[in-house]
Amino acid sequence: MWFKKMSLAIVFAATFFVLKANASGFIDVRSPNGSVMLTIIHEEDFSILYKVFYKGKTAVEYSRLGMKLKTPDVSLTNFDLTGVDTSAVDETWKPVWGEVSSIRNNYKQLVLKLTDRSGSGIQLQIIFRVFDDGIGFRYLFPLQSSLNHFIIADELTEFDMTGDHKAFWIPGDYDTNEYSYYTSNLNAIDATGGSFAQEIHAKTYFDKNAVQTPLMMKSADGLYFNIHEAALLNYPAMDLVIDKSNFTFRSHLVPDAVGNKAYLQAPAKSPWRTIIVSDKATEILSSKMILNLNDPSKIGETSWIKPQKMIGVWWELHVGKASWDYSGGQVGSQQATKVPHGATTANVKKYIDFAAKNGIDGVLVEGWNTGWEDWFGQWKEDVFDFVTPYPDFDVKELQQYAASKGVKMIMHHETSASVTNYERWMDTAYRFMKQFGYDAVKTGYVGRIIPRGEHHDGQWMVKHYERVLQKTASYKIMVDAHEPVRPTGLHRTYPNFLACEAARGNEFNAWSVGNPPDHETILAFTRLMGGPMDYTPGIFKIKMSYYNPDKKEQVHTTLCKQLALYVTMFSPLQMAADLPENYEAHMDAFQFIKDVAVDWDDSKVIDAEPGDYVITARKAKGKESWFLGAITDENARKFTITPDFLDKNRWYHATIYRDADSADWKNNPEAYVIEKISAYYSREISLKLAPGGGCAISFIPFTAEETEKFKKEAAKLLKEKKKKN
Ligand code: NOJ
Ligand code: CA
Repeated sequence: MWFKKMSLAIVFAATFFVLKANASGFIDVRSPNGSVMLTIIHEEDFSILYKVFYKGKTAVEYSRLGMKLKTPDVSLTNFDLTGVDTSAVDETWKPVWGEVSSIRNNYKQLVLKLTDRSGSGIQLQIIFRVFDDGIGFRYLFPLQSSLNHFIIADELTEFDMTGDHKAFWIPGDYDTNEYSYYTSNLNAIDATGGSFAQEIHAKTYFDKNAVQTPLMMKSADGLYFNIHEAALLNYPAMDLVIDKSNFTFRSHLVPDAVGNKAYLQAPAKSPWRTIIVSDKATEILSSKMILNLNDPSKIGETSWIKPQKMIGVWWELHVGKASWDYSGGQVGSQQATKVPHGATTANVKKYIDFAAKNGIDGVLVEGWNTGWEDWFGQWKEDVFDFVTPYPDFDVKELQQYAASKGVKMIMHHETSASVTNYERWMDTAYRFMKQFGYDAVKTGYVGRIIPRGEHHDGQWMVKHYERVLQKTASYKIMVDAHEPVRPTGLHRTYPNFLACEAARGNEFNAWSVGNPPDHETILAFTRLMGGPMDYTPGIFKIKMSYYNPDKKEQVHTTLCKQLALYVTMFSPLQMAADLPENYEAHMDAFQFIKDVAVDWDDSKVIDAEPGDYVITARKAKGKESWFLGAITDENARKFTITPDFLDKNRWYHATIYRDADSADWKNNPEAYVIEKISAYYSREISLKLAPGGGCAISFIPFTAEETEKFKKEAAKLLKEKKKKN
């Protein structure tokens, strides 16, 4: 969007230290180290445009901002600029859990105070924050006499990209994000492309040019961009619709049942719109901008919030070995064959035993409550009550058994998207959980939303997800949400929000065409930008023909890549998703899942390229051990890394879990090799990844005794060497 002439109406002092008004009337705001610059202009027609530079290059061309209200009926596009505020923040804060133990929040802020010129008198502010790795901005409707309750018809935000960038996208959709990613230039975006819409139960795509965020892009000259949002609360999610004639994205808010976008009351604010930019892909992955734009924790006492690993009566349901349904019926196309009920007291005890033996914190059980016999697919009102177990699931006995073994039970609440029903039951259900010793719940929203006509990503549901976080927090319950809106960093504000799905998880590999080998390398740059994902890694039995010779489905990775995912995909809640018996057959490889941490003091993205590979190393919270994960797409790759993240004064036992030389995701996915070496910060390690493969490494420091012994041996060797000479 090219501007014509600037309005002469821009009036502000040129004395602010973060910005200067130059002679032609621009407002420039530079990030703390100067790598990002925001430029605002107030056009001759009184519209407001913003532009973003990265290291002197245009990252986002002049793009318009504005709001269209339905009630009152007014377009907020042309403004008087009545004031400008600036400030700067440089602070450090500590997340309750995370990829790093402390986070620097360092930005320059600009607030534009605007008044509508069309006669409504409505005041609007646009707040910009300029970081070294990008910008965030939000609309704020202050308390005012010209506006009280109002309805948003559309948000008129634009993101004008500088060219036909390569993009990693999924179709815009009001209800699901469980798609495989499409990699194409912006020009080739087409959300109607049939193949990726399979197996989606609630699909509502609305425009062939629409995509979802986080949207990842790369320009021909090597700049990386990520567009998303932060602090999505009391507002619908934002999709983006591209105008291919000039590569401009326009915001498209998810509507409600009657086509409105948001119901607000002043003072009110939109979520932050975020543009992360860098010339290094690794810096996109390590950006903390989205977290920094969220509010600090609203939960005061957080000692009950515990990062953890879980196993569960779960994968056996997805592979069709057992059923959620007490009567043994199966979901969807598999309905004809009956299989045993999975959530029996005896079966759950086996999982508890395995967890206790292997240091796994929790056991998730799905299909424990009545309703599964009649839950699927028909927009039914009252299916589940969340407190009535099937007769073969003894809640009390399992509570005692789990407690005696030091294992926590994890609750499952599938709502079948009958959300009004869930809201009626929430208090009762959480009290029931606490009564029987459950501190964490996995929620689920499969199907079309009730209230009918609402969408998973609309304002009504966004408010519901927040109510769940607030209510569970009041009961000291942690949450893992499946089928929610995509995350936007809210885990800073509600740290009991451990993880969510909101993308195409590993489960698709059990019963569909699955996730292509590049999937997890793209997820890092897209879905994971908003927060931790319950991807459910750790599948060791890769081919589903193991369960049923007729099945052609398979996981599209090697076994070692499944291990590496525990590091490349950060989550404070990680599932060891496969069956205990499949782990028992490979306890040497399972050792990595036992050892790997889920909460970290530090994280280093060593190398990465969206759609190709990701290599990440992380230091366990409060410990000296490090873990490394490397994953590749369908191509074999070799890397040589220097583990210079290690403490320079220590030696480490490194255990390398790598693809066997003959391994590949399709024909030989389970072949692996485990090697043990002594590692030192300056000693190179070579990584060899099979097609669709990965590599996982644990670095455990030498004990004091081992170090002593090692030093003595080294001294002895030196002495002998000297003698010889
Ligand atoms: C879909 C979820 O993603 C999956 O994890 C769960 O097992 C089923 N819904 C049943 O609730
Ligand atoms: Ca799902």
